[in-house]
Amino acid sequence: MKDGQKTLYSAVQPTNNLTIGNYIGAIKNWVNLQNDYNCYFAIANMHAITVRQNPAELRNKTLSLLALYIACGVNPEKCVLYLQSHVPQHAELSWVLNTFTYVGEMERMTQYKDKCARNADNINMGLMDYPVLMAADILLYQSDVVPVGLDQRQHLEITRDIANRFNNIYSPTFTVPEGLYMKVGAKINDLLYPDKKMSKSAENPNGSVFMSDDRDTVIRKFKRAVTDSGSEIIYDPVNKPGVSNLLSVYSVFTGKTVEQAQSEFAGKGYGDFKTAVGEAVADKLAPLQAEQAKLLADKDYLNKVLVSGAERASKTALRTLNKVYKKIGFYQI
Ligand code: TRP
Repeated sequence: MKDGQKTLYSAVQPTNNLTIGNYIGAIKNWVNLQNDYNCYFAIANMHAITVRQNPAELRNKTLSLLALYIACGVNPEKCVLYLQSHVPQHAELSWVLNTFTYVGEMERMTQYKDKCARNADNINMGLMDYPVLMAADILLYQSDVVPVGLDQRQHLEITRDIANRFNNIYSPTFTVPEGLYMKVGAKINDLLYPDKKMSKSAENPNGSVFMSDDRDTVIRKFKRAVTDSGSEIIYDPVNKPGVSNLLSVYSVFTGKTVEQAQSEFAGKGYGDFKTAVGEAVADKLAPLQAEQAKLLADKDYLNKVLVSGAERASKTALRTLNKVYKKIGFYQI
């Protein structure tokens, strides 16, 4: 831990396979942020079970996500990297925070309403309580900032409301976190529907490139990517969304600017262009996947990372929880 640095909190669910869009939008951010903040990064398996999971798969995905983050450069010595269920204070604080959260507020959450529509056969209490658990995650560590995408903005707002409510009833207890709205880097769109964001749960998996895709699959998906009418390879997201998306991908994965990419492909055909983009992505993924596989083969190491992460996280979490228990009048021994 570095003195004088602000505390940053983020978490990711170990559910779906991550896409190269998540890599650009989330994983790379964690890598950059760990130098400037005291970072707590959690794998949110308690959030994951609000939707029914296969137990063996959940276990595997947890380790494989951990290994992927480390392979991509998240350094467990620079930040506190841990599994949510290893720190019981998350469940404990979220129970207390439940009593400072109104049912009506939770019913109005847009993500909750979406999830109810998609999981009509399993509208469980956890699904509704999801934002309160998220508030507990963030508030336990007295987090100053939380990097959030648009989809999580409402959850951060309710976290701030709950924190302020508690602080006003008792006395200042929780740091009220600010959202860190990342400067949008290149946003990566679906290869088949280039006006839509690349998603880990798209209906057609050929439009999304997963971090786990092998070289042939990556290249095949790019070869099939939708391009636009005309034959020029120019960056023009309005009129040429397909080509523009491929140019952004190429730029992000090679470190070249979009202008450089454009001139590199001037006069070339779509076919060669798509192959080149696919190869650039495959070249970048190969060493990350190899490192991930190496880490996954070393369970002892991964377990050590998790034990150390849980120990460090618990220490901070326990301090906050004790403070809360005292304020609300829980007799302490
Ligand atoms: N709900 C977040 C997501 O699906 C994951 C998450 C859980 C989270 N707890 C958090 C994100 C705390 C930020 C802070 O993306």
